Amino acid sequence: MSENAHANWAYADAFIAEDDTLIAARATAKELGCVPIFPGGGTVLSVLAAAVDARHVCEIGSGAGISAVYLLRGMNPEGTLTSIDTRAENQHAALATVNEYGIPAERLRMITGAALEVLPRLADEAYDLVFVDAVKSEYPDYVAHAIRLLRPGGLIVCDNMLWHSRVADPTQRDPDTTGIRETLKILRTDERLVSTLLPAADGLSVSVKRR
Ligand SMILES: C[S@@+](CC[C@H](N)C(=O)[O-])C[C@H]1O[C@@H](n2cnc3c(N)ncnc32)[C@H](O)[C@@H]1O
Repeated sequence: MSENAHANWAYADAFIAEDDTLIAARATAKELGCVPIFPGGGTVLSVLAAAVDARHVCEIGSGAGISAVYLLRGMNPEGTLTSIDTRAENQHAALATVNEYGIPAERLRMITGAALEVLPRLADEAYDLVFVDAVKSEYPDYVAHAIRLLRPGGLIVCDNMLWHSRVADPTQRDPDTTGIRETLKILRTDERLVSTLLPAADGLSVSVKRR
């Protein structure tokens, strides 16, 4: 590992600077007590959504809408983002963030509720990309739903897969950290998926559902 790893990481994270709207949305997220995806992770979302020309994306964890903006930027201009969150207050903030970009309201479908109650109601093989960013200990269950929701060739992207350096530290055994380790094992071993773990941001896993 390079001695400059941290400097390289910071350089890559700042590769595409955020505008004032996203900077303001980050301040709102902080007030709401939720931690948005890092800028470098956000650009990965845009690239992946563009790569599959995503028309139907499911996001688990709306927050204040930072990841929604990155996803919508990369998606097909007619694509729809379904975003799930337990907190209506967060979803109002997310809608306000997206509205700032003049994105038509019908492109963002907000569903308020617990992900594990909402996901079973979503259609099989109807999504091009599922982005996972809510309760870390529930990630294994989110991934099980994501595999069902994705069309063949679709993508699962999970944030915080290094969980603030805890995942790589075997002495950390809290439920969130062990939930992420369990998720990584599923992503690595499930034969329906081809997966990688990017050290971007706080760790982003990317998996393709085989055709
Ligand atoms: C890390 S934040 C999401 C940040 C957002 N993806 C972004 O990058 O801008 C996690 C969100 O998950 C929501 N959340 C917590 N428990 C949840 C659950 N059981 N189901 C769905 N969302 C939940 C929180 O209210 C919070 O808004």
